[in-house]
Amino acid sequence: MPRRSRTAEEAVHGVDLHASGAAPWVPATGVLDDLRAAAPACRGCELWEPATQVVFSRGPSDAQIVLVGEQPGDREDLEGEPFVGPAGRLLSDALRDAGIAEDAVYLTNAVKHFRFEQRGPRRLHKTPTTTHLRACAPWLEAELALVRPRVVVALGASAARSVLGRTVSVTTERGRLLDGRYLVTTHPSAVVRLRGRDGFGAAYDQLVADLRLAAT
Ligand code: URA
Ligand code: SF4
Repeated sequence: MPRRSRTAEEAVHGVDLHASGAAPWVPATGVLDDLRAAAPACRGCELWEPATQVVFSRGPSDAQIVLVGEQPGDREDLEGEPFVGPAGRLLSDALRDAGIAEDAVYLTNAVKHFRFEQRGPRRLHKTPTTTHLRACAPWLEAELALVRPRVVVALGASAARSVLGRTVSVTTERGRLLDGRYLVTTHPSAVVRLRGRDGFGAAYDQLVADLRLAAT
């Protein structure tokens, strides 16, 4: 990738902001709306450029439960809201079936811009790399420091990796509390992909059971 010239801000601070992840863009604040307002300017990795917009979070700043997804999908990228596409609809159903009020949870993602591959008219989801997860982690850390939830639910391996800071096998570590505060479960997109196939019912029920555990 050709390197663009340093901005005035970078020259002043004497650092290459592109190499440093999101930290320089994350304001030191006790107010969630300040984070939200600052996020569109983030250039902590290259994912901002082809994306439509940043997708930050939704939910109350005093939520007891935080749900962390991987990254926004196609719909989320277009609407600027997390979990408004097919995975979000399934997650809504699962929360309801787990007895959790959706408007009481804080929903966010490990990576705040949609990573995709353009194939003709379609934009195909591309899993974020460890570098993207690491670059974007300062946003998630700031969110968790502000919301201070009782439990953090990582939806899928990318979220779990970001939240726990290590490689996580969802299959072996799902469905139990880790470090007294973290819960790993399947990403709702993985359940959506099983729709109309044999494993769907079991996968959905397991997601609901894991979410129910987060509520107790
Ligand atoms: N999948 C995610 O991980 N996050 C969203 O916001 C939507 C789909
Ligand atoms: Fe910044 Fe995260 Fe977007 Fe990368 S994905 S530009 S680190 S907000």
